[in-house]
Amino acid sequence: MHFQWFPGHMTKAIRTMREDLKLIDLIIELADARIPISSRNPEIDSLAQGKTRILLLNKRDMADPDATTAWIRHFEEQGFYAMAINAKKKNEIKSVSDLIAKACREKRERDLKRGIKNRPVRAMIAGIPNVGKSTFINTYAGRASAKTGNKPGVTRGKQWIRLNKGAEGTVELLDTPGILWPKFEDQTVGLHLAWTGSIRDELIVNTDLALDLIEFLQEFYPDIFEKVYNFRPEEDSVRVLEQLAEARGCVAKGGTPDLDRAAFLLLDDFRNARLGLITIEKEDFRR
Ligand code: G4P
Repeated sequence: MHFQWFPGHMTKAIRTMREDLKLIDLIIELADARIPISSRNPEIDSLAQGKTRILLLNKRDMADPDATTAWIRHFEEQGFYAMAINAKKKNEIKSVSDLIAKACREKRERDLKRGIKNRPVRAMIAGIPNVGKSTFINTYAGRASAKTGNKPGVTRGKQWIRLNKGAEGTVELLDTPGILWPKFEDQTVGLHLAWTGSIRDELIVNTDLALDLIEFLQEFYPDIFEKVYNFRPEEDSVRVLEQLAEARGCVAKGGTPDLDRAAFLLLDDFRNARLGLITIEKEDFRR
């Protein structure tokens, strides 16, 4: 998918988020576990003031588990209820529900003291495009959900998905996620989003992207070339791309290595975790 954000889009997204935030107690933010910094927009911090916050590091099935554990600790220290998930897996839902229950406990206790019983906790999903918001809503709200329908007056036009998750009480999830935009503060952010396939911009040339990725891999995961492609990488990244073209049988007309094809294959392998579990932004990565 191709996303481009213009000031008009951002203003509208912020306005929608602000309105939706008035209706909810809890924000469930999704980020990509491989790039927990670049896949978030810090704007949400000011928007979300006063709300209980959950941060789900999604796509954990593609990230380095040790790095993910370190990130969870980091975000917990910042006051989030945080955990890593694979939004495609239904069997991870129980732990998300537990985390939501934990996050809501304080609010429920406050309600009880005021004599309010069984008031549902209202939540919304938020995040930049491609972090897995719709996948999460589908998996999480899937079969067990029952649409509560429009509630005129209070939540006109909003659809709530009622999640009946046992003794901990009801959670109602706004079925439209809050969409934020990536914050392209510097080139690295764009690069990381492009490597992971979160932005697909025709303007970004595959070979350049692949050469940058090769340099990253040479520095942080130097064994990968031997392990996955069976060759010992040379130092120069263009040479490595040629080696890769050879290893993968990418030949252009005239018998020269087809670097565009090799670049495409490398990025495709990376985006589908065929290079292994890789976290691009480690816990010491700061913008
Ligand atoms: P969004 O609403 O935030 O924009 O994201 P969406 O759910 O559309 O997910 C974006 C892509 O990420 C989808 O892949 C989706 O399948 C994939 N995805 C979401 N969560 C996970 C996860 O935990 N692990 C993995 N491995 N992938 C995840 P796609 O290529 O756009 O579509 P498709 O391959 O599902 O057809």
